[in-house]
Amino acid sequence: NYEAKVDSIMNLMTLQEKIGQTVMYGGSWDQTGPIVGANNGKYIREGNMGAMLNAMSVKGTRDLQKVALEETRLGIPLLFGYDVIHGHRTIFPINLGLAASWDLKMVEESSRIAAEEASAEGIHWTFAPMVDISREPRWGRISEGAGEDVYLSSEIAKAYVKGFQGDDLSKPNTILACAKHYVAYGAAQAGRDYHTVNMGEGELRNVYLPPFKATIDAGVETFMSAFNELNGVPTSGNKFTLRDILRDEWKFEGFVVSDYTSINEMIPHGFAKDSIDAARIGMNAGVDMDMMGHIYRKHLKTLVEEGKVSEDYINDACRRILLAKYKLGLFDDPYRYIDEEREKTTKYKPEFLTKAREIAAASSVLLQNNNSALPLSNNTKKIAFIGPLVKDEYDIIGNWAAKGDRKGKAVSVFEGVSEYLKPNQILYAKGCDILKDDESGFEEAISISKQADAIVLVMGEGHHMSGEAASRTNLKIPGIQPRLIQKIREANPNKKITLVLMNGRPINLSEEINLVDAILEVWFPGTMGGAATADLLFGTVNPSGKLTVTFPRNVGQVPIYYNMKNTGRPIPENNPKEDYKSNYIDVPNTPLFVFGHGLSYTNFKYSDLKLSANQLTHSNTITASVDVTNTGDYDGHEIVQLYIHDKVGSVTRPVKELKGFQKIFLKKGESKTVSFTISVEDLKFYNSEMRYTVEPGEFEITIAPSSNFKFKNTFNLID
Ligand code: IFM
Repeated sequence: NYEAKVDSIMNLMTLQEKIGQTVMYGGSWDQTGPIVGANNGKYIREGNMGAMLNAMSVKGTRDLQKVALEETRLGIPLLFGYDVIHGHRTIFPINLGLAASWDLKMVEESSRIAAEEASAEGIHWTFAPMVDISREPRWGRISEGAGEDVYLSSEIAKAYVKGFQGDDLSKPNTILACAKHYVAYGAAQAGRDYHTVNMGEGELRNVYLPPFKATIDAGVETFMSAFNELNGVPTSGNKFTLRDILRDEWKFEGFVVSDYTSINEMIPHGFAKDSIDAARIGMNAGVDMDMMGHIYRKHLKTLVEEGKVSEDYINDACRRILLAKYKLGLFDDPYRYIDEEREKTTKYKPEFLTKAREIAAASSVLLQNNNSALPLSNNTKKIAFIGPLVKDEYDIIGNWAAKGDRKGKAVSVFEGVSEYLKPNQILYAKGCDILKDDESGFEEAISISKQADAIVLVMGEGHHMSGEAASRTNLKIPGIQPRLIQKIREANPNKKITLVLMNGRPINLSEEINLVDAILEVWFPGTMGGAATADLLFGTVNPSGKLTVTFPRNVGQVPIYYNMKNTGRPIPENNPKEDYKSNYIDVPNTPLFVFGHGLSYTNFKYSDLKLSANQLTHSNTITASVDVTNTGDYDGHEIVQLYIHDKVGSVTRPVKELKGFQKIFLKKGESKTVSFTISVEDLKFYNSEMRYTVEPGEFEITIAPSSNFKFKNTFNLID
């Protein structure tokens, strides 16, 4: 009974010691990790630090823990947190890429491996998963989430939590997960990071909140409040989201940490007049722990003494934090995560690398494959590999790559294809840099392209171009890379050209689709990314990933996502340019690549969509099924997607919504019937009174390979 144990410790604690538990600091480091530097040591000894940011390594965490245990009055162990986002040492594809696998088992496996590696280096707590829905490709942090869809993001969020936390938190290979950034951070105005969000409560509840709720259903232990304001109230001081929804409605029992100084940032937001005011607002709103802001440490005691913050809030916060430490087993053995042998033997285990290769391949999306440019044959006499990312081992692991090694560990595309080709079959030229405006490498690149029988371009963004504080207003492949693509096509009008893209967001490929034959989106694929890319290029693995975010035609279409509203003047199907309809005069309404899109080397035929009944009630369910046949020449995985449209609502409903998916494997020639069970639960939404409800009426339904298919059937919900 942890609660009783926590109470008995709390009976011994002074108010300042309780406040100390709500303080996260991460001050002094050297090359190897955190050290007991001047401030770290001071705050721990004073009982003024409960948790440490960016604390990792067995040596660093042992030294710090020792101070907490041996040099403080009560010897309460510290909690060590670190950003383990898409792998710790073994790096998996960036999260937006991993989501494109639509493979919940793989998501869970990747976070399980990350937890194994991180916990072996003393880490107790990761600031992941990031479950922010985003429909904003300009926003750099779209790379850290699962994309634009509510249902898929919620399923993926649960899988991450299960992987990090395992089934028993007291096992030393599990770590606390943290659902972040609560909430609506992904809807920053114009995609600028940390920017304002204005959003109706209906959209908040129907779109942005569900993945957070899903993490609670999966047992997540912590939440992180965000940097942004929401309807004028910063989310790190937002009673409505933090107390009314998170605590009262959802009954969340874990603790909430602020984002890095996000409580202090209520001052420039114009919501708190000074740091005392910010501390008051943060704690009263329900942020239990202050990350790096130092204002709980400095001001909470006086605020309680002055009656401006209830001591009950401090007690609640302290209790929740201590409870997490109990659950991790830190009170039984504070050194249980600190084991030299484990640290040495856990990182980069061969089985982790094998998994990373498999997952990277499953996360890549074949966007286009004209003239069957792919797969390549390893009998091709000469293949030219051109671009700044061909030999890259640095950007390939992407942003927020924790302790991923950027020098020497990651497999580049060049190394990957070298497993398939003899040296005399490979021609290579860098051509240009990602960002530098210098065409001096063009000549060599064009020259080798002319000598080759097939051409593969490996291009994209640098890893620093996505992630935090990396918003862009231009969504094109950066720098002069597009110019090089153009020149290579001009020099080789009849050769098959493949573009392998590394990037952290939807890219505007409107010109490139006409210049190259095939486009393989590999995102930032991680440690084994080059090997996985080669597996796909040569057909050892058949591509199966599908987009979880829409790729626009240009930045002016943003925000664009598959489940928008119809408007009162939708465009007629046979005349999309009709005047006075909801369209543009310069580009079509449709994106370049839709949500759910992704090709395979084989073909899948969908037929015989059936419903078990045409009437749904509150007590029965309907089964929707479709036959899927592999009609092509390769075995392959297919992601089968169920979409429903609620035709009329008391508030208007999206044109379609993903309500289920299954990833199936079909050998060539094989068929399977794929079935989904539909109940009223799948049709619920928040109405204008913010009641989670379902309304009778007609629903359209389809089961399809992407979001770009017409509805095939209907059913009625009767009261
Ligand atoms: O976890 C992160 C968060 O996503 C952004 N600000 C810093 C935190 C801790 O590193």
